Amino acid sequence: MQNENSEKRVDRRTFLTYLNFALGGFISVALGIPLVGSLVLPTLKQREAIWSPAGPIGDYPLGQPKAATVTVTIRDGWIERQEAKGIWVVRNSQEGFTVLNGRCVHLGCAYSWVESQKEFLCPCHAGRYSLDGKVLSGPPPRPLDNLEWRVEGGNLMVRYQDFRLGIPQKEVA
Ligand code: FES
Repeated sequence: MQNENSEKRVDRRTFLTYLNFALGGFISVALGIPLVGSLVLPTLKQREAIWSPAGPIGDYPLGQPKAATVTVTIRDGWIERQEAKGIWVVRNSQEGFTVLNGRCVHLGCAYSWVESQKEFLCPCHAGRYSLDGKVLSGPPPRPLDNLEWRVEGGNLMVRYQDFRLGIPQKEVA
């Protein structure tokens, strides 16, 4: 009889031990998943620098900067989405272009061309750039970011990339 009771006690103790382990394991997994995710996901998150069409080259008048939009694919883990990105295109010759990322290199504001002053102006902190993207005045630490381009079948193709803001060197973001 005494033996039976002690067996029951041992069973209950064993059960509680298992339960303790199970709860401990559950808590570890629950806390571990976000931690592992935060370490692994940034490596999966990437912006693919693909070639995107920016329209027929005939749309771009010689010597006149023109704003355009390209679509880029962003891979975030297993999720893929498309985003429209602003660029500025300057046609220098029949088949020669300067293509600029549409973000001001200071803090990323959208800048625009001011025809009366023949320069790009950023409204956020009055950064000024020349037609070819050189800094004329203000806080921008480097020239506007040039993008790779090519002409394919009469269309302008642009390899869109974002670069780190606020630093003197051009580094892919
Ligand atoms: S964001 Fe353009 S000058 Fe500051």
